[in-house]
Amino acid sequence: MIENYDIQIKNLNYGILKDINLYVPYRSKVGIVGKTGAGKTTLLNLLMKIYLPPRGTIFLGNKDILEIPDPEYKVLVGGVLQENFFFSTTIRENLQIPFFDFLDGLDEQKILKALDFSSFDINEFPRKLEEIVGEKGVKLSGGQKERLALARSILKEPKILVLDDSFANVDINTEREIQKNLIESDMTVILASHRVIFMRDYDMIICIEDGKITEIDTPENLLSKDSVFRRFYEAIADWIG
Ligand SMILES: Nc1ncnc2c1ncn2[C@@H]1O[C@H](COP(=O)(O)OP(=O)(O)O)[C@@H](O)[C@H]1O
Ligand SMILES: [Mg+2]
Repeated sequence: MIENYDIQIKNLNYGILKDINLYVPYRSKVGIVGKTGAGKTTLLNLLMKIYLPPRGTIFLGNKDILEIPDPEYKVLVGGVLQENFFFSTTIRENLQIPFFDFLDGLDEQKILKALDFSSFDINEFPRKLEEIVGEKGVKLSGGQKERLALARSILKEPKILVLDDSFANVDINTEREIQKNLIESDMTVILASHRVIFMRDYDMIICIEDGKITEIDTPENLLSKDSVFRRFYEAIADWIG
């Protein structure tokens, strides 16, 4: 049994990552910033068990994540990657894929709620949920794919949602709506992104440089002093205007 959904990372060394220590209470909203190649994806892939961490380094509710069976873990911890896979079938069936193992189908209301959470406008498609997305989803724009991948993750009702630069092709105003939903949700959200402006209302910001955590604090505190987070923040605030 998992006692709670807090995440704890203890002395994690893996690839570029060096001596990572971290405590993320359940329901926290955590932003990860850092230059390309810093190690953000490595850390998120370990959290999603796409890479297996060394024993005794990553815990969910006091349990080593290696001890939690994969089918259970993949429901507890959802993720949206930079590239997401779609089958050449309907929107509905693409949303149902994670459920093939343990559910016959999904309740229509639940699907529409997840699409709404993800700002995915099903009315843009004449055949709605029965629209065929084409080979690997070619009929969807980059932003639509990202939002559909988010809806697919949300449908599993994960306790923890890991987002790796997941909204790079979503326009700023749409991302603002999605971020509002994420912040108000009951999930722990761990997001790596360059659009750090949306991390302003997060609980914790982690800055990774060359595989090491160099800053960890609230956004307010990091913005009130000379920090890497503030430099990222000011750059994007200037760009958005
Ligand atoms: N599967 C892998 N095997 C070995 N090295 C990798 C792998 N994936 C990424 N790296 C290396 O690890 C470093 C960190 O990459 P990554 O975690 O993708 O950073 P970020 O997401 O911050 O851009 C980079 O130097 C990258 O080349
Ligand atoms: Mg990355």
